[in-house]
Amino acid sequence: MNKFALAALMFFASAAYADRTPEELYPTRCATCHSAGLLNAPKVHDAAAWKVRFDAKGIDGLVQSATNGLNAMPPRAMCNDCTPGEYKALIEFMMKPAA
Ligand code: HEC
Repeated sequence: MNKFALAALMFFASAAYADRTPEELYPTRCATCHSAGLLNAPKVHDAAAWKVRFDAKGIDGLVQSATNGLNAMPPRAMCNDCTPGEYKALIEFMMKPAA
């Protein structure tokens, strides 16, 4: 394979794995539990509930919880293909107060 073909391949491969938006991911990945507050999950857009957790752990700690699981939340938070950046965006999305 020549260098150009390799570069083109890498470009398309990375484009395919570009981060998806939280708006795309949330409904199918996190909403099951976080919309209704199932099993004491902090509810989406319940800023106060999220603030307590954010203040205690910071964004990196929360990404860690989603990755490793926490109590009733399974490891990877039922999103096996989520990247760390996607977890971060999803958490920031859920922390935001309802518009
Ligand atoms: C099977 C249900 C379930 C799903 C699906 C789920 N969560 Fe959770 N999540 C929970 C529960 C329950 C808690 C509260 C855990 C506790 O504090 O005991 C929680 C808490 C969290 C926390 C706070 C962790 C902390 O350290 O305080 C984050 C961050 C989080 N979820 C992110 C996500 C993200 C992102 C997704 C989607 C990719 C997701 N969750 C999907 C059940 C779920």
